[in-house]
Amino acid sequence: MRWSKTFIPTLKEDPSDAEIVSHRLMVRAGLMRKLTAGAYTYLPLGLRALKKAEQIVREEMDRAGAIEILMPALQPEELWAETNRINTFGPDLVKFTDRHGKTLILGPTHEEVVTDIVRNHISSHRQLPITLYQIQTKFRDEVRPRFGVLRSKEFIMKDAYSFNRDEKSVEESYQAMYRAYSRICERAGLPYVVVEAESGAIGGDVNHEFMVPCKVGEALVALCKCGYAANTERAGAGRPPKEAGAAPGAMKVVDTPGTATIKTVSEFLKIEPKRLIKTLIYVADGQPVAALVRGDHELSEGKLRAALGAAELGLADAATIEKATGAPVGFAGPVGLSVRLVVDHAVGAMAWGATGANKADAHIVNVVPGRDFKFAATADIHAAAEGDLCPKCPAVLDIRRGIEIGHIFKLGAKYSKAMNARFLDESGKEQIITMGCYGIGINRIVAAMIETSYDDKGIIWKPGLAPFDVEIVAVDVNDPEVRKAAEGLHDALAAAGVEVLYDDRDATPGFKFNDADLIGMPIRVTIGQRSLKKGGVEVKRRDSKESEIIPAAHAAERIVAMAEELKKLAQ
Ligand SMILES: Nc1ncnc2c1ncn2[C@@H]1O[C@H](COP(=O)(O)OP(=O)(O)O)[C@@H](O)[C@H]1O
Ligand SMILES: [Mg+2]
Ligand SMILES: [Zn+2]
Repeated sequence: MRWSKTFIPTLKEDPSDAEIVSHRLMVRAGLMRKLTAGAYTYLPLGLRALKKAEQIVREEMDRAGAIEILMPALQPEELWAETNRINTFGPDLVKFTDRHGKTLILGPTHEEVVTDIVRNHISSHRQLPITLYQIQTKFRDEVRPRFGVLRSKEFIMKDAYSFNRDEKSVEESYQAMYRAYSRICERAGLPYVVVEAESGAIGGDVNHEFMVPCKVGEALVALCKCGYAANTERAGAGRPPKEAGAAPGAMKVVDTPGTATIKTVSEFLKIEPKRLIKTLIYVADGQPVAALVRGDHELSEGKLRAALGAAELGLADAATIEKATGAPVGFAGPVGLSVRLVVDHAVGAMAWGATGANKADAHIVNVVPGRDFKFAATADIHAAAEGDLCPKCPAVLDIRRGIEIGHIFKLGAKYSKAMNARFLDESGKEQIITMGCYGIGINRIVAAMIETSYDDKGIIWKPGLAPFDVEIVAVDVNDPEVRKAAEGLHDALAAAGVEVLYDDRDATPGFKFNDADLIGMPIRVTIGQRSLKKGGVEVKRRDSKESEIIPAAHAAERIVAMAEELKKLAQ
């Protein structure tokens, strides 16, 4: 491919709205452009990378025995009513009313649609297990679309769904997907860890996330040297020892005007956030509850839900909070509160602390848990944090950021039961199908690779996702000898099946080298009078500082071999 015949609008300057490296580089290297918040146009280089990611995913799904289909993004609301997700999915759901007054959903995920297909066309144990997958555009009205294509409102996902007769069979399908996802990460050149995770709106219990550790990741993971790895929302935190010491004075109410947040109250009272008892009012299955976590900790809704055994759980609204505590939002506390308390282990271990006084602009200091508010037991309800103990061994957990690339779930009968997807077993008895679902973000694979492989000059493509294997830079295209050599090499490489980009633009060498580093193809070949005088072409890998001169006569053959070797890493 000649640069002059394609469309690669590289930029010298960083886009002003890009907060992270991958976003900045994907725009600067001409891979994509933003249309509006959360929606991007892929330009030729970006599209090639996206197709590479898609192809790796497709090959691994096929290898695992999954069967490709394509479902519509448009989904009727009735299907979502059958599972009640029309009410529970939340504001991310994109829907609209068509001209006939019918509500249609733009699918954020496809459990209902695929289960509908299966219940209509699968009826016998002989047809199970089956795993169906698609690679398709999803829509989610994300609150905060950001970080370029890492979190957008429209994105491409590979979603697979397994239909199984029993727990043993779903375990086999799950393991096959686990292996496939591991291979996908390896072939795409992504460093990754697999962690136990929370299931969120999808449902189900056993589930794992494939995470790429990286400082801009939006997810937090807790890792331990014993091998334990979990999303902090899920990670069990060991019970800390009871703190020694006593409150420095008697319990008393103090005025704390305008301090409705942990930060403001901690500054006002001059005490560390970890000395504060944060009191969050939730509504669990219709009843208000007060969840207590330390001021420096975040509550994990998943853990709270598990501790309560609640089916439905959500933060209480301002009116419910006022009714339960007698105070406006931000001043709740456990002392004298009459709603049910759920006390985190770390709060139970505090010798003393400060908390809201259930009165506007007031807090109580020198509160002693157990003395000033009673509880029978404590529970693990905070998201694992720095300093927490591993639940499996005595070590302290290592908390890191990560990008969630893929997520696999065992769903059990959640959807099949609600939608009545059954099969007949050998004895002719009707049984409910058991399911698993498995998602991986195609755009995210590309962005996460860039986020973990770049230098100050630009992207360093891993061979599996590189838009081209080789870029040829002709130093001076107006020199007939140089042009002939460059074109000859381009044609020879292309004929041998190497994906080659030839920078044939009439521009200065410095400009072209900068662009070559910015777009970052794995192998760069420079051809100019200088290299020809040295007897050939200069070859340099993007991930190395060294270059070598290869005699013109062997150049094609040697570069084909190099490209093939790199590609092997991605097979
Ligand atoms: N807003 C988004 N933008 C880009 N990719 C996304 C987005 N939401 C989800 N994905 C991708 O789809 C995969 C499966 O999604 P899922 O686990 O349902 O999402 P979430 O964890 O956000 O609820 C994610 O691991 C991620 O790679
Ligand atoms: Mg997920
Ligand atoms: Zn451990």
